[in-house]
Amino acid sequence: MSDLVQLVEVGPRDGLQNERATVRVETRISLVERLADAGLKSVEAGAFVSPKWVPQMAASDDVLRGVRRKPGVAYPVLTPNMKGYLAARTAGADMVAIFGAASETFSQKNINCSIAESIDRFLPILEAAKSDGVAVRGYVSCVLGCPYEGDVAPAKVAEVSKRLFDAGCFEISLGDTIGAGTPRQTAGLIRAVRDVIPVDRLAGHFHDTFGQALANIWTAYEMGVRTFDSSVAGLGGCPYAKGASGNVATEDVVYSFQRSGLDTGVDLDAVVSVADWISRELGRAPQGKVTLARTTP
Ligand code: HMG
Ligand code: MG
Repeated sequence: MSDLVQLVEVGPRDGLQNERATVRVETRISLVERLADAGLKSVEAGAFVSPKWVPQMAASDDVLRGVRRKPGVAYPVLTPNMKGYLAARTAGADMVAIFGAASETFSQKNINCSIAESIDRFLPILEAAKSDGVAVRGYVSCVLGCPYEGDVAPAKVAEVSKRLFDAGCFEISLGDTIGAGTPRQTAGLIRAVRDVIPVDRLAGHFHDTFGQALANIWTAYEMGVRTFDSSVAGLGGCPYAKGASGNVATEDVVYSFQRSGLDTGVDLDAVVSVADWISRELGRAPQGKVTLARTTP
């Protein structure tokens, strides 16, 4: 099994969707470009969702159109339905992500439909994407707990993940939306899901609300997962998961793998300076420990 760790940077989407103030398009474009320049090979650039639901992601088309694309870098965007998919394609998206959940209540609160209805909405996206040659990533939220229902059974996560994988997603990102999970729970989750999906098709998406994200990442790594989502400066959260904090900070993940002799392809100094820059732009302290340790306030 490969030692290479792939990071999917979700700061410009998962991070900025949760900011109180709407961030200027120019800043969003610059954030995406700086992250790609720091060596991230997949930078989630925005979300083609309803601006009434998530106003922070309005103008994702302008962001996607404005980004100077680097060869070899993917710029996925979230698309909850065909309306979003078509708008994303018009703006030049060549990778999209659909996002479902393992919890019925979260599905209703987040995308206003049941899990089964969400899959019915995703199928035409997968079909169109296949004929357009567009890769589709699949997210499953609430894999280690739901803000409305509490515990979520690993078997339910495995069932939804398999449904999305079988329908054509090239990768399933397992989202600990509220950052509630612990390493042992993560191990149980990965065991259940890798029974039905090849482990090299899984990604870990850990929010760090309770400080467990890096430990969960290492648990998943030891069990064969090699792709992890992270957010520069630890930006982020979900507007429909109150109290959830940001994703694990990209710089902390890079540091941990790099110092353990594992390559992420990301330049640590460069990503720390992006974290410092975006934190100043947003007028907030960076959440990443490495940025806090390496920069002056
Ligand atoms: P709905 O209200 O059921 O949709 O929302 P609808 O089809 O009935 O349409 C209602 C209105 O929305 C119409 O406009 C549509 O045109 C418009 P109106 O006639 O009222 O002016 N509309 C759209 N506009 C722009 N783009 C679209 C779109 N679709 C409909 N794609 C919908 C359903 C899915 C649209 C809504 O619930 C929504 O946008 N939800 C997004 C929620 C979201 O973005 N959450 C955060 C991302 S998920 C996350 O953070 C978790 C993750 O990080 C993993 C983890 O941590 O677990 C991925
Ligand atoms: Mg998330």
